[in-house]
Amino acid sequence: MIITDARFIVSNTDYIQCPKPDIPEYAFIGRSNVGKSSLINMLTGRKNLAKTSNTPGKTRLINHFIINNNWYLVDLPGYGFAKISKSIQFKWEKMLEDYLLHRTNLITTFILIDSRLEPQKSDIDFISWFGEKSLPFALLFTKADKLSKSRLFYGLEKYKQTLMEQWDEPPLSIITSAKTGEGKDQVLQLIEEMNSELKD
Ligand code: GTP
Ligand code: MG
Repeated sequence: MIITDARFIVSNTDYIQCPKPDIPEYAFIGRSNVGKSSLINMLTGRKNLAKTSNTPGKTRLINHFIINNNWYLVDLPGYGFAKISKSIQFKWEKMLEDYLLHRTNLITTFILIDSRLEPQKSDIDFISWFGEKSLPFALLFTKADKLSKSRLFYGLEKYKQTLMEQWDEPPLSIITSAKTGEGKDQVLQLIEEMNSELKD
């Protein structure tokens, strides 16, 4: 898929106020600072479409972007961010959970995982929650440029082994880098396939 048009539409704190759910939607979620906003900019080829930051907790709302006038891409706040108060954390979690459970046009959620880290409990729990709720998802391993090929390979193997303790099959995974553009074609192709399946 070639992205010819990418535009920010609106930010919301509540899924009920999100744009009318009349076109397919794909959301990007993951721990704070994992690289969600950077990946969205890489995929759309727009440097500053989604706001990025060195400080975790930059994205605080449900942000809708419309792509090629044909589907929504959604940038979500990070979870597992320790440096905010418990009450704000609770509010964010509730907002995310409501959005993920009730957004009717949400086709798939891309769960982003930092390639450099050992499997983190918050990620594993989050992935299990998707399983419990039967919500479709794919894993995107981020910041691949920061690792050697061999470290990346062993890290991902370890991740798969951890997931296989709970899953019969390893979830669909794509390796990405916002810096080098790795994974761009694969992610966009996957979205294109899902969009065309909906039309059948
Ligand atoms: P929150 O909105 O705070 O939850 O963060 P986020 O997940 O949207 O992360 P963001 O895209 O803002 O990126 C966090 C930091 O990681 C920034 O300093 C980015 O420049 C850096 N970063 C993101 N992706 C990559 C990548 O693929 N490679 C490298 N080298 N750095 C990256
Ligand atoms: Mg962000």
